[in-house]
Amino acid sequence: MTKPYVYVTRKLPEEIISPLREKLDITMWGSEEEPVDHETLAKEIKRADAVLTMLSDQIDRPLLEQADHLKIVANLAVGYDNIDLEAAKAVGITVSNTPDVLTETTADLTFALLMATARRVVEADTFIKQGLWKNWAPFLMAGTDVHHKTLGIVGMGRIGEAVARRALGFSMDVLYHNRSRKQQAEASLGVKYAAFDELLEQADYVVCLAPLTEETKYMFDENAFSKMKTSAVFINASRGKNADEKALYQALVNGEIAAAGLDVFEEEPIDSSHPLLSLDQVTCLPHIGSATKETRQKMVELCFENIQRVLNGSKAKSPVV
Ligand code: GLV
Ligand code: GLV
Repeated sequence: MTKPYVYVTRKLPEEIISPLREKLDITMWGSEEEPVDHETLAKEIKRADAVLTMLSDQIDRPLLEQADHLKIVANLAVGYDNIDLEAAKAVGITVSNTPDVLTETTADLTFALLMATARRVVEADTFIKQGLWKNWAPFLMAGTDVHHKTLGIVGMGRIGEAVARRALGFSMDVLYHNRSRKQQAEASLGVKYAAFDELLEQADYVVCLAPLTEETKYMFDENAFSKMKTSAVFINASRGKNADEKALYQALVNGEIAAAGLDVFEEEPIDSSHPLLSLDQVTCLPHIGSATKETRQKMVELCFENIQRVLNGSKAKSPVV
């Protein structure tokens, strides 16, 4: 019997892949860092029984419609805004993501970014390495407190709840805004639901963890930033397009908000000449929310579990559609 053909759009560690080769005919794109080109992707999708994709691959309708054998697109991410779900549904292709295995890891990074931004950790590191530390001074690199402040979480999914749990250890008051009320989280964590505007007005830290959808796109716009405290810190660890970067830049430059910590950008990778990167009060990370060795391995394994289940005629473990 011929093995099912699986195409992986990035080079993954062979030690994770090699045991799977017994049952699957796996081909990987040759580079760890460079994304697959469109022509190769189109050719491979046409031929494959399953594809394992990255959040940087756009899996659009034309690609899905010509996928004659494809049963599943297994995305190596909890988010799936890079895949045309309607088109996948229409042609009967399963789409799966990697929830749960990355929740705590992403919450760790989100909280690290919040703290780094508040306490100017990256700026202070650069300051020393550039040879600028000449004297100790009382207000040198003075930041702003995290403990006992108000955290506002926009997008209270699993990661939002995991961030809230961390915040409780810092004696923070936690507000959240979400499409639906989370009674369970309110009861177990003591977090309070707030309307979006109310959260913006009251929070010292506004953390965006909402998935990118038509409703959330650019929800952080000029109007939203203008409602925040002038001392507010904005953290985005979900998708760049949930915030309008031009409006964010203006809000920072005009002092409408104090600082921002960004793990995600409207265009990734962000161009190093982007105006946001010229601001000391902006701390940036290259979309590494779930990037630990342990969690990335679990994400790859979950992708393959989804692939194998679907190829065996069962339902995926974590299907999106
Ligand atoms: C990363 O951004 C993910 O969606 O997993
Ligand atoms: C999103 O799906 C989350 O887990 O927060």
